[in-house]
Amino acid sequence: MWKGVIEKYREYLPVTKKTPVITISEGNTPLVYSQSLSDITGCSVYLKYEGLNPTGSFKDRGMTMAISKACEDKAKTVICASTGNTSASASAYAAKANLTSVVLVPEGAVALGKLSQALIHGALVLQVEGNFDDAFNLVKEISDKYPITLVNSLNPYRIEGQKTGAFEISDALGTAPDFQVMPVGNAGNITAYWKGYKEYRDAGKIKSLPKMLGFQAEGAAPIVKGHVISKPQTIATAIRIGNPASWKKAEAARDESGGLIGAVSDDEILNAYKLLAQKDGVFVEPASAASVAGLLKLAKKDYFKETKEAKIVCILTGHGLKDPNRAIKTINKPKTIPAKIDRVLKEIGY
Ligand code: F0G
Repeated sequence: MWKGVIEKYREYLPVTKKTPVITISEGNTPLVYSQSLSDITGCSVYLKYEGLNPTGSFKDRGMTMAISKACEDKAKTVICASTGNTSASASAYAAKANLTSVVLVPEGAVALGKLSQALIHGALVLQVEGNFDDAFNLVKEISDKYPITLVNSLNPYRIEGQKTGAFEISDALGTAPDFQVMPVGNAGNITAYWKGYKEYRDAGKIKSLPKMLGFQAEGAAPIVKGHVISKPQTIATAIRIGNPASWKKAEAARDESGGLIGAVSDDEILNAYKLLAQKDGVFVEPASAASVAGLLKLAKKDYFKETKEAKIVCILTGHGLKDPNRAIKTINKPKTIPAKIDRVLKEIGY
């Protein structure tokens, strides 16, 4: 029986016998071979489908650690700022641990599925008149001054949990990939994966390290542009962040691995979003499609030409059902017809 990432990778994590393990059986997500992307790029492309975690995103890997350690430290309340997924995960794990959760989200900029999760799990949900960065500044200050535990990825236990994604990919492939492609928002996940790969190499589990390829949305690309973006804009609301907390660590992952952090437009994101759904049968939220958009952009520039038979893993960070409105906006609404067989057949083309 799968018992979650802490039990599976206990020896690599800062837990002891005394740590109460709060888990909803996160992790163990599939690594799906993509024929369509392999054909386009001439490489072997795999999709790490993190949308299949219990709350529908990769955040659960970090949250099982952050909430378990909060319990060990006798915390009563946890707080986070979020573009949606962190708040969904924090509220679910806090519910399981019987902790109070407070989540601050940017008003009007969180996908419906994510907001519904935080509400049903019983968090105190506050919509802030501002963007993610404003909400993040507030929760940092509050957790500094009050006995409330911050569970954003500034909390080092979040990074510890999230690094297990790198372990799972390495275990599944029997080696590290040559390239890992992923979206970058607050930059915790790229930091976590890089830490995970390095630790697995040091433990003798893998011999090489991947080049880390991160992608931000063009209207929210502070790392690419080299300065804070005060009013970030993108349809990929999960990564609508202008001043990432782990900025420097993301740059370190990029530079140490010999990779890059680039930008993709909303159109490129939406094309990748549709391609994944229509060629691979994998439904992701727009931010997750930024990784595949980045892959396609680099493939077009022959970026992978030098590396023969490269193994590439794209991290698909969140499930498409998080943001159903985007799918319906992207594809035409279904036609309504009378309940008559001839009308159905006519629509099919008979
Ligand atoms: N993809 C999804 C679906 C996300 O929700 C996030 C971040 C990212 C990618 C980027 O990961 O921040 O570690 O670089 N979501 C955060 C949140 C900010 O509040 O849910 P990152």
